[in-house]
Amino acid sequence: MLKKISFTVNGKALSLEIDIRESLLEVLRTRLGFTGVKKGCGVGECGACTVLIDGTPIDSCIYLAVWAEGKSITTIEGVASKDGELSKVQQAFVEEGAIQCGFCTPGLVLTTTALAESGKEYTREELKRELSGHFCRCTGYNNILKAAEKSLKPEEHQCACGHHGEK
Ligand code: FES
Ligand code: FES
Repeated sequence: MLKKISFTVNGKALSLEIDIRESLLEVLRTRLGFTGVKKGCGVGECGACTVLIDGTPIDSCIYLAVWAEGKSITTIEGVASKDGELSKVQQAFVEEGAIQCGFCTPGLVLTTTALAESGKEYTREELKRELSGHFCRCTGYNNILKAAEKSLKPEEHQCACGHHGEK
């Protein structure tokens, strides 16, 4: 059965007709061309297909596209600024060398983005738990955790008075 659905992807309103059996992963990748949404296991185990739906990380391979009606979806293509400047999370992944083949990276960046936006603090153990739904075939977990920690570190604000830091 076909059904017309509307949602926003990376801030852009889209409407299209889909088969009600299609997963959000299939619709995003094959119909809309968001190839940053990776297909790994296809059964909700590896996290490669993660997108944010209304800010929450979701495995799009086991999420029907019809459920996304009226929702706001963020894929990895929507994380950097419009002029291409990397987000703080993306920059941290680059700096910590948390990227090898890159297959798991979009999902990890998106989940870390959701954690950063929660404004909460996470210990390394908590981060491991939060990121445990992501399988990295290259086993780059140490650098991924370092990148996540860096992403969640509050910005250091420079004081304009000029006296701080004087000995
Ligand atoms: S492809 Fe969706 S969890 Fe693996
Ligand atoms: S970087 Fe290759 S699967 Fe994670």
